[in-house]
Amino acid sequence: MPLRDSQTAEIAGIRDEWQPAGAYLNTATYGLPPTSAHNALLKALDDWRTGRTSEEFWEECTERARAAFGRLVGVKPGNVTVGATVSELIGLLAASLPDESVVLLADGDFASTIFPWTVHQDRGVVIKSVPLASLSEAVDAGITMVAFSHVQPASGDVADLDGILAAARHYGALVCVDGTQACGWLPTDAAAIDFYVCHAYKWLMSPRGTAFMSVSPGRLDRVRPLHAGWYATADPNNNLFGMPLRLAPAAARRLDTSPAWFFMGGNRRCAGARRAHRGFGDIQARLGLGRPVSSSLMFAVRQVADRFRRCPRCRTSSGACRSTSVGARWSCARVVSRLQYGA
Ligand SMILES: Cc1ncc(COP(=O)(O)O)c(C=O)c1O
Repeated sequence: MPLRDSQTAEIAGIRDEWQPAGAYLNTATYGLPPTSAHNALLKALDDWRTGRTSEEFWEECTERARAAFGRLVGVKPGNVTVGATVSELIGLLAASLPDESVVLLADGDFASTIFPWTVHQDRGVVIKSVPLASLSEAVDAGITMVAFSHVQPASGDVADLDGILAAARHYGALVCVDGTQACGWLPTDAAAIDFYVCHAYKWLMSPRGTAFMSVSPGRLDRVRPLHAGWYATADPNNNLFGMPLRLAPAAARRLDTSPAWFFMGGNRRCAGARRAHRGFGDIQARLGLGRPVSSSLMFAVRQVADRFRRCPRCRTSSGACRSTSVGARWSCARVVSRLQYGA
């Protein structure tokens, strides 16, 4: 299918914004920052070094990032919480579950998507785990929360989001989706999801330390603002000292973690680049690819590397070697970096 002129222009924009040392295939591990974001980060660090920076500037960066994430997933900025990691944001939700809640997870999902729930087993929270493809069938009236990655980091498998949401709605279960491996290339309407969590350092190509969570307005009261501090108030700079507690009313920022200044600065410049990247996703969709080329390739490379990797100590293939997994990981990384950097 021929590309439209606007798509050709978008591809040219993408080419100018990224300068990898070779073909880069590893966005599922971390996305490369666009040049404009990298420059913004360098300038921010320099301003910090020379004392030319100000709190107001960082707040502006944070609020722009919050709004840009909201636009991307179809929710208002007031419904977006700012944090630093997925595990921290999901931890907030998990800590707010009543004792004896039942959480349904996907087998083999990422540790940060599943461990925050699992640590609550000692207070009676029950964890159930089923294959990703069986999630919607496994929802029943006994389930409190269904939590899963929209795109599985180990396989690239895409969850049947609509099916799971319909089942959860039918039985009154809450849904928490981790969009870290999806957001940026797989358009998602977060307004339909109770909690949509995302770290921005992969497909949103931002620095690590910038994570977001959209909270559907009717669910805000269910989450205890465990990170409450000056930034969880409606007007942070006028709420720095003393009692009483004054959280932002009816806004997801009451769940905020005080922002990681520099990283939000780098994130701020990603808005245009994100659009370009989304264009890239559209093009791939038009070519009939269900997931990003680079992500698919990385999973394939990983699988090949896993088969042929050798333990550097005993030289047997890693499948036969029980002594170390470090060497196996190293040789897998070598294969990936050879492809990316020609190294
Ligand atoms: C699905 C998914 N969620 C979250 C993360 C990162 O988690 P955290 O922000 O807790 O480091 C990753 C990193 O690979 C991931 O693949």
